[in-house]
Amino acid sequence: MSAQAKRVLVLGGTAYLSRTIARTAVERGHRVTVAARGVSGEPPEGVEFVSIDRGSAEGVEALRGGEFDAVFDVARMPAHVGPVLDVLADGAGYWSFVSTISVYARNDVVSGEVHEPTATDSADPSPEVYGASKVACENLVRERLGDRALVTRPGLIVGPGDPVDRLGYWPLRFAEGGEVLAPGDRDRPVQWIDVQDYADWLLDAADAGVTGTLDAIGDHIGMGAFLDGIADALIAEGVIAERPDLTWVPQEFLLEHGVRPWAGHESLGFWVPSPDYDGHGSRPAGPAVTAGLRLSSLQETVKRWWRANAAAPSLRAGMSRVKEGEVLAAWHGTEPDPELERYDRERGFAVPAAARPAG
Ligand SMILES: NC(=O)c1ccc[n+]([C@@H]2O[C@H](COP(=O)([O-])OP(=O)(O)OC[C@H]3O[C@@H](n4cnc5c(N)ncnc54)[C@H](OP(=O)(O)O)[C@@H]3O)[C@@H](O)[C@H]2O)c1
Repeated sequence: MSAQAKRVLVLGGTAYLSRTIARTAVERGHRVTVAARGVSGEPPEGVEFVSIDRGSAEGVEALRGGEFDAVFDVARMPAHVGPVLDVLADGAGYWSFVSTISVYARNDVVSGEVHEPTATDSADPSPEVYGASKVACENLVRERLGDRALVTRPGLIVGPGDPVDRLGYWPLRFAEGGEVLAPGDRDRPVQWIDVQDYADWLLDAADAGVTGTLDAIGDHIGMGAFLDGIADALIAEGVIAERPDLTWVPQEFLLEHGVRPWAGHESLGFWVPSPDYDGHGSRPAGPAVTAGLRLSSLQETVKRWWRANAAAPSLRAGMSRVKEGEVLAAWHGTEPDPELERYDRERGFAVPAAARPAG
């Protein structure tokens, strides 16, 4: 689609990334339709909402015959992809499918090898088949759209609206002060993509007619530089006066004491163990940047997150202060501080029992 106002369809649009795409498309002056059930949240202002349920072929009939310059989809299961392609592929000028780096079969090295796809009619939502499901989704999109399709594979998406809060744990924890448990190795590479950068890029790519398959991820930096960057953003915002007192504890000790990597209850966000995940945080950003992805600085990303979330934080990932205190006490050979529980009460700590898939 060219940069003029165009007809845009967002399949999803009621949650996080797809909602950010829809809102940004409206801000750019496009005519935006959002199609979903409407149970995950409200679509942004200024869109036309079409009620669909991708659980069955009949559930997407409302879209049949629709004509759009660009369609954006974030589906997780191939059973949700085939039916919309049946009713829309012929009327779509361009199709942008959001996949995941979880399609890659290996985490221990950076490799292009992907999982064997699930069946094209699979509706299995379990995290164990997430990557394989996305491979099947990608294949369906490529088969039907050919050279009108862009498939992007994001790594960890961070920003306002994030339902998983892997970034959010860190600024909120730093703002509380005191000794902070830091995971593993300062040099361990981490990478992410800012949700607004990603939405902007997907819309720019549609304007420019970028097609093919690309990772959607920013440059990697060490975990130490990452935590320092978060602290510096909070210092610049006037939230804290100086960088926090970080205590780096080796991964073996963390794992032995029940600290979970990556996401979910009692986890340290962004941290993944070695050697199983040695390839996880260092995929090259270059191809996406060459294709137009513009990366915000870490400080810009953290400031945006802070301004959107700090007033009413509700953490869905990370460690409770009680657990963090226990691990730090075990590391130092001291007794945990009994006062830490009050922080957990004040935080509105609402971590789900199970983490969502790695992507
Ligand atoms: N978060 C990360 O760090 C990360 C990393 C890598 C990749 N990804 C990928 O990034 C994308 C994130 O998408 P997102 O932020 O928009 O969140 P999402 O939770 O994947 O959103 C799913 C959207 O699809 C709609 N939907 C779900 N089931 C539906 C059904 N049966 N019928 C119709 N619509 C349905 C939902 O709306 P309703 O519920 O209202 O119907 C919602 O708007 C996903 O593709 C994910 O795999 C995420």
